[in-house]
Amino acid sequence: MQSSKQSTNSFSSSLGAIMAAVGSAVGLGNIWRFPYICGKYGGGAFLLVYLCFVFGIGMVLMMSEFVIGRRSGHTPMKAFASLSPKRKGWRYIGLLGIITCFFILSQYLVISGWTLSYFFDAIIGRLATMGQDSVAISDYFNIFSTSTVRPVLFLGIFALLTAVVILCGVQKGIEAVSKVLMPVLVVLLVLLCVRSLTLPGASKGLEYLFSPDFSKLTAEGVLAAMGQAMFSLSVGMGVMIVYGSYIPVSDNLFRTSMWITASDTFIAILAGVAIFPAVFSCGMEPTGGPGLSFCVLPSVFNSMGGVMGTIFASMFFLLLGIAALTSAISLLEALSAWLVETLRGRRWTATLLIVLAEFVLASVVSLSNGVWSHFHITGITFFDFVDKLNSIYLPPLCAFGTVIFEAWVMPSADVRDELSNHGTLRAAYYPAFRFIIRWLAPLALLVVFVSSFF
Ligand code: TRP
Repeated sequence: MQSSKQSTNSFSSSLGAIMAAVGSAVGLGNIWRFPYICGKYGGGAFLLVYLCFVFGIGMVLMMSEFVIGRRSGHTPMKAFASLSPKRKGWRYIGLLGIITCFFILSQYLVISGWTLSYFFDAIIGRLATMGQDSVAISDYFNIFSTSTVRPVLFLGIFALLTAVVILCGVQKGIEAVSKVLMPVLVVLLVLLCVRSLTLPGASKGLEYLFSPDFSKLTAEGVLAAMGQAMFSLSVGMGVMIVYGSYIPVSDNLFRTSMWITASDTFIAILAGVAIFPAVFSCGMEPTGGPGLSFCVLPSVFNSMGGVMGTIFASMFFLLLGIAALTSAISLLEALSAWLVETLRGRRWTATLLIVLAEFVLASVVSLSNGVWSHFHITGITFFDFVDKLNSIYLPPLCAFGTVIFEAWVMPSADVRDELSNHGTLRAAYYPAFRFIIRWLAPLALLVVFVSSFF
């Protein structure tokens, strides 16, 4: 049997661990999903609630997963089983995480395919031909995303790309590449922010994002904030358990989690600053939904005119694709490591099986935007259903199991020992951490989970 350490890359340094976790956390969730969810649920008020969840609960969940991963040195199912040898049932919490990864990757492939397709459209100048005609741009997105062949073709290409990287075992390459490209992504986002902020009427967008109007906040918005916090930090699906097992023993888990959480949040807010002023300036609705960055940004790029617009648009969609790729790789890695461990099979067989299954599921998700949009589950399309599974049904359940396990099943001394690196760090925050995992987080997760049904 292969252990998780053999089947995936182990991080050579603390920086490597942080960069890889940031690469996994920073993805479509920050740049594509955060702005549209934030726009949909009221802007500033949503942002405030989101920040509370991210730092109050999300970061604590990340630390909890790191503790379980580093303490056990295993992938999720084995990690739970090995930390509670007498109560093997806990490993199903790990399985739940794996199932969550499976659904997330399917949705991820669809959006990544859109990104890839837009990258090509930007290069060949097709996006530029639409100028700042917001109706034409929205129509183009709607026709494209609901069509049958093209989105499936591009998600297939993206899936293949992800698989090739995994099969070549060039994670070190990817790790090194993302160390370079993540900063480039930030620089590009900052440039975009500058461009967006200098558009006429940009201040309205900033106001929308930063001045909270609590009358716009709904209970559903609060739920969505919690879901988005977990999705963006990649917690509640066991991936951080796997990463935790690679974190060097001398690392301060609190500081590592803080860095990851802060970087992730910073990039999400940057994306908001790049998008909202442009939305208002172009006279579009901030509540535009999943198409927000695909319908709004092209118009911003086109406003730069000519070659500049084409360069910015191509680079943006390329980098968005790369951010998506590093996240997709870690998802596929977690899934195939688990399959290798479970079936004791070969790594490439496991990877191909999963990619094939993901391709089928992702195609159904994609087609549910178009030809199969009349096919509803619980009154919504399959795309929206998977989105809900990924954000408000599965991760809270998995995270709930994780914190209950850590707070009530694992001996408190072990948890403290791991957080304090065997007593060498003070970990003065421990009482607060313990209070959150014992009471606050389970309560919040339970509320999210139960109310998601109403
Ligand atoms: N955090 C990623 C994003 O913001 C999405 C994601 C959720 C993810 N869970 C994951 C990525 C697990 C990698 C592994 O886009």
